[in-house]
Amino acid sequence: MSKSVIIRRPDDWHLHLRDGEMLKSIIRFTSQHFSRAIVMPNLFPPIVNSQDAIFYRNLILSAIPEGHIFQPLMTLYLTEGTDPDDVEKAAANRVIHAVKFYPVGASTNSQFGIFDLERVRPILERMSEIGLPLCVHGEVTDPEIDIFDREAVFIDRVLDPLRTRMPELKVIMEHITTSDAVDYVSQASSLLAATITPHHLIINRNHILVGGIHPHYYCLPVAKRQKHRQALRIAATSGSSHFFLGTDSAPHVTSMKENACGCAGCFTSINTMSLLAHVFEEEESLENLEPFSSLNGPKFYALEANTETLILKKQSEPVLWPKQIQTREGNVTVFDPGFDVYWQVEG
Ligand code: NCD
Ligand code: ZN
Ligand code: ZN
Repeated sequence: MSKSVIIRRPDDWHLHLRDGEMLKSIIRFTSQHFSRAIVMPNLFPPIVNSQDAIFYRNLILSAIPEGHIFQPLMTLYLTEGTDPDDVEKAAANRVIHAVKFYPVGASTNSQFGIFDLERVRPILERMSEIGLPLCVHGEVTDPEIDIFDREAVFIDRVLDPLRTRMPELKVIMEHITTSDAVDYVSQASSLLAATITPHHLIINRNHILVGGIHPHYYCLPVAKRQKHRQALRIAATSGSSHFFLGTDSAPHVTSMKENACGCAGCFTSINTMSLLAHVFEEEESLENLEPFSSLNGPKFYALEANTETLILKKQSEPVLWPKQIQTREGNVTVFDPGFDVYWQVEG
């Protein structure tokens, strides 16, 4: 008999859906497997207030293919102009589920972000009062700091001081890549959590740089050395409620990745669940796939877990995905784990 796993339907707690033709072409790869997703606001221009969020939510809803049931959970892009009253009202109406902090210069479209969190203190205080989570791109942008150290330094310079000043603020350290982040989050209260991507469980920095430069493995935060990947695998597969899935699936057209100045981001929506089953089986923790993908996230966001289920079956032949997804903006390269995967989502 072939091996199979049944889990509650998963959610994606960190996703880039973009807009325009890209949104229309890629959303199906999320809505076919996931019930909900925290949708990142880093469009150009970004989603900065409740009106933007409602507009973007409607755009997403109109792009969902027939027969798919999918709920986008919207976020606001934190700027110095963010209005605490607008945030509070949008949160009360369930228009938004989090606010996202991008340090200026840290990632795609982060130029509208924050230089100094002190300058948005009233907003953070309000979020703390109403229990609205802050999602964080956790890297410093100081040019003096080596890119491989930017996450660890962020914990010391920004995250820890923030949590000391505002111990009641709910924070999610997004797409963590280091053992430093794993240790810091593991030891914190239940008000701090972290999302982990499938690609950071699979690649280390050698994948990006050995034998030529591999732009499709370039994402931010950049993958670190093997010991960090190992720490992430232990954290993700542990079942600990501090850690849950955020794919950070971030499509860019192939020409913008294979470029003298290539964009950061891996497109993983299509194969995330298969890749996770593979990793969790390798770590002998298949029973913890459900907490990681379907239970810990809703718990942190104070939402119910999904009642529908998703079945993964281990087949005898490797699963085949398209190498590229076609969109009217150009092709998007699908994340290639570099090994055969036998776990297939049923249906
Ligand atoms: C993301 C994107 O392209 O929007 N890229 C990435 O490498 N992760 C931005 C982000 O999540 O930092
Ligand atoms: Zn980010
Ligand atoms: Zn992201």
